[in-house]
Order: sequence, then C-alpha cells, then structure tokens
Amino acid sequence: MVIVYESKTGFTKRYAEMLAAKTGLKVYHVKEISKINQDEGIIFLGWTKVGKIQGLNKVRRYNVKAICGSGTGRTAEPDVKAVIARNNIEGIPFFYLRGGCLPLKKIKGMDRIMLSMFVKILKSRKEKDERTEESIDIILNGFDGVKEENLEPLLEWLKNQPTFR
Ligand SMILES: Cc1cc2nc3c(=O)[nH]c(=O)nc-3n(C[C@H](O)[C@H](O)[C@H](O)COP(=O)(O)O)c2cc1C
Repeated sequence: MVIVYESKTGFTKRYAEMLAAKTGLKVYHVKEISKINQDEGIIFLGWTKVGKIQGLNKVRRYNVKAICGSGTGRTAEPDVKAVIARNNIEGIPFFYLRGGCLPLKKIKGMDRIMLSMFVKILKSRKEKDERTEESIDIILNGFDGVKEENLEPLLEWLKNQPTFR
C-alpha cells in the first residue's frame, strides 16, 4: 500500500505526510504515479474544487483502495453521498478531510476569480446562517483545519486491511 496525493496550496500534502509518518507507508505526489506498480494498493488524497476531487483522474487506472477528499467545509459539501456520485467513486471507501485555505489575497489566477465569485454569492444571500458566515470568513481570511485526529476514521479502516504492511 502507498499514499498518493494532489495538493495545490499544501493542506492535503500535510495530511499525506502525516499519514505517511503514522503508518510508515511511502508517499508520492500524483505526478510520480508512473513509479507505482499497477497492482500496488493506493490511498489517494486530493483537494476538492467545485465538488471535484483533483488528481483523481490520474489514478483511476490504478489499484485505488481508498479516497480522501479535502475541503474547507466542516463536513463534505453538500454531503458524502453527493461527493461520491459527483466523482464516480461508488464502491471505494471515501473519507472527508477538513483542509484549509490561504487568504483570498494570496490566491492567484482562476482559483481566485472563482472564490471571489463564490464569496459574492454567499454575501448576497438574504438569510445568512452560521455556516454561510463561516464560509465567507474562511475564504477572505484563510483557515487551517488540518488536524491529526481527522485521519482517525481512515486509520481505523486501514487497520482492517489485509494488504496493509
Ligand atoms: C476554486 C476553488 C474551489 C473550491 N471548491 C471547493 C468545494 O467545492 N468544496 C470544498 O469543500 N472545498 C473547496 N475548495 C477548498 C479547497 O478544497 C481546500 O481549501 C483544500 O483543503 C485545499 O487543499 P490544498 O491546500 O491541498 O490545495 C475550493 C478551493 C478553490 C480554490
């Protein structure tokens, strides 16, 4: 079993490295996928962009045993079932990891444009609940939600895997 990740601003990378430190498994960036044997089990971690787990398409031909998607929400948005359907990963164990984001000012290019639009939409809501307010604050000011304890459900799953050596 090995760990493969895709990360743009480093939050998912931190989870991948934390997982490697806890398990002793080797960790690869998705760009290095060709180094991995087709039979090798893979735990894939990728950041979520508008509901899509980034980098996932590069590992689909491989032996993916579990998938983790990171995002800024407290839980997977809108929910785990929708994320699984959106990414066509039915039948593969999925784990949501709360990641984080840089302050909007530090994000560049298309991502910044998309997030700016998203903030505008959230701000224009007449009724803003606590989660909407939190999302606006997170995007504008940045947030770090990476915590070791968030890996626990994945570690529990891993313990029961016969291929985990
Ligand atoms: C353009 C854009 C779209 C995003 N869309 C989502 C999303 O749909 N759901 C979510 O939970 N997080 C979303 N995020 C937040 C990132 O997934 C989150 O910040 C992630 O932890 C970043 O990981 P990284 O540092 O490894 O790149 C989005 C971020 C950007 C920049």
